[in-house]
Amino acid sequence: MMNRPYIIVVSEVTIDGKLTLYRGASSKELMSIMTKEVYKYLHSIRAQVDAIMVGCETVRTDDPSLTVRYVEGKNPIRVIPCSTANVPLNASIFSKDAPTIIVTTKRASQERVKKIKELGAEVIYAGEDLVNFDILLPLLYEKGIKKLMVEGGASINWEFARNGYIDEIRIIHLPVLVGGENVPTLVGGEGFKSLKKVLKLEIINHFTIDKFLITEWKVQK
Ligand SMILES: NC(=O)c1ccc[n+]([C@@H]2O[C@H](COP(=O)([O-])OP(=O)(O)OC[C@H]3O[C@@H](n4cnc5c(N)ncnc54)[C@H](OP(=O)(O)O)[C@@H]3O)[C@@H](O)[C@H]2O)c1
Repeated sequence: MMNRPYIIVVSEVTIDGKLTLYRGASSKELMSIMTKEVYKYLHSIRAQVDAIMVGCETVRTDDPSLTVRYVEGKNPIRVIPCSTANVPLNASIFSKDAPTIIVTTKRASQERVKKIKELGAEVIYAGEDLVNFDILLPLLYEKGIKKLMVEGGASINWEFARNGYIDEIRIIHLPVLVGGENVPTLVGGEGFKSLKKVLKLEIINHFTIDKFLITEWKVQK
């Protein structure tokens, strides 16, 4: 088995499994219903991991900073898979609060990579077309990243699920129902399509914080 970080997927999800209000919408509006205590839960996980990852599309739509603000603790390293390095140069993930790694492929232009490096971020190459996690995860492990939190979106979550790279899933259930057929859910991609292949989970913890149910799951190997 490859040397890779322990991976925890963490997400805020409506009771119908949606990540946001409509396709292309920032999830920040939906997340505005979360209370300070719920943010503390989320940020306490961030403070316990070595690195945090979100997909490039989440950076483009949500512009998150991925830092620890609601509890005391160290900011994790920010890791962003971005196959053409098409990440806005004024994105909050380039703030000086934490190191940032942009993971890209041969498709990225040299000029773009140079600009990103000038912002102080590290650029690493992993893959030809899209970012290849089989290459990336051992590289992160070698860099000392032993625990990685993955905060979405749907496409990135699928990449981890599909390859069997998820160890734990922690869900903040938002007590709202959004609807909409093509609104991104917790996991996108092709789907497993067979009961044999689906990820099998075991519940390890459940509790409420204010009006929010929290569930914590271990993936059965
Ligand atoms: N509620 C929550 O907890 C939460 C959390 C995060 C996001 N969201 C929401 O989720 C939505 C974004 O989700 P998303 O699924 O569209 O995007 P995503 O998973 O955040 O990012 C996908 C992007 O990552 C890049 N990428 C690089 N290598 C990849 C690979 N091997 N496989 C897949 N993607 C790869 C691609 O962009 P390039 O082509 O540029 O490489 C791809 O478009 C937004 O609406 C956001 O608000 C919600």
